[in-house]
Amino acid sequence: MRRAGRPSSPVKEVPLGRARVAASILDADLGNLAHAVRRAEREGADRIHLDVMDGHFVPNLTFGARTVKALRKRTRLPLDVHLMISEPGRYIDQFLDAGCDTVTIHVEIEEPIEPTLRAIRAAGRAAGLSLRPATPLSALEPYRALLDIVMVMTVEPGFGGQSFLAEVARDKVLAARDLLSHKLHGAEVHVDGGVNRETAEQIGGLAADVLVVGSALWAPGRNMGREIRLIRALADEGYQYSLNDGVPPIPRDKVVTFATLPRHLARTLQAEVERTGIPVMLFRSGGLEVDLPDEVRDWDVLLPGPSEAAALERFGARRDALVEEAAAWRLAGMPEVPYVPPPVPPRPDELVP
Ligand code: DX5
Ligand code: ZN
Repeated sequence: MRRAGRPSSPVKEVPLGRARVAASILDADLGNLAHAVRRAEREGADRIHLDVMDGHFVPNLTFGARTVKALRKRTRLPLDVHLMISEPGRYIDQFLDAGCDTVTIHVEIEEPIEPTLRAIRAAGRAAGLSLRPATPLSALEPYRALLDIVMVMTVEPGFGGQSFLAEVARDKVLAARDLLSHKLHGAEVHVDGGVNRETAEQIGGLAADVLVVGSALWAPGRNMGREIRLIRALADEGYQYSLNDGVPPIPRDKVVTFATLPRHLARTLQAEVERTGIPVMLFRSGGLEVDLPDEVRDWDVLLPGPSEAAALERFGARRDALVEEAAAWRLAGMPEVPYVPPPVPPRPDELVP
């Protein structure tokens, strides 16, 4: 449930942690893109990643600046535009006019790159360069001073749903961070292609800032919100491991189940606990084998072990009340309850001490 009195702000929720997820709509229902971007926003994506293809630079066609402009009205999330086109210089003004927040072009194009990067920056947007898996990172060197973003392609550009090229990531992602060392803040390394729950931890461990996720979000029946949170959490965990010489700072077995509740009550508790700065994850209790719809099955409310004592002291009574409420609800035959969306993690200034 949205908290009463929440100030409306164009800056959406800032999740705890470091990694950000940009939802690529390439594999969404292209017949209903407005729905796709709204859904990605509602489910907690940090950005929308828009793949523009011209059938020339890559063997596939998608959409152009008018579509980007139309989508601009449908979401408050930043729009990251990834131009897989041979002549970005020819269209750049249209894309800037369309209201994208970042524009990334490819270093392999045959026209001059610098004027386009300069135009993006002159419009006050973030400028990025992306590179195909076979292109060495050194190709970006001449443009270093003009870059806000390096987007490492970990699949051959053109299509969603391909497998992650781990060796490309190992070669380039950390090195891309070095390439951006001239920027004291605001520089980002994006990883695009094959990002999912299997690869996120490794990508986070290479200090990527933005994980572009496409097909993993749009699989039929997938809980997108959970996928986004999981990918973010895994990326952050990978980052923490690598900072800590491979030793997990909070071992994974130190996560405790604080309560088991139906979803609407689990999310209510989650929102209340997260307001105190304790991160909470919800998982389907009993795993995927339980053959019950999400609204009526049980969910485990998980906390980091070290936070358990504080959570018990503060929320023990509240939890017990919710457990009773759940029992009463089940006894009453599980009448329909208002939909409680996944809570928005609080911004730092919203935390309750
Ligand atoms: C591929 C695009 C990607 C694509 C990623 O050329 O640049 O953004 O949507 O899709 P997945 O996540 O399925 O690899
Ligand atoms: Zn892309």
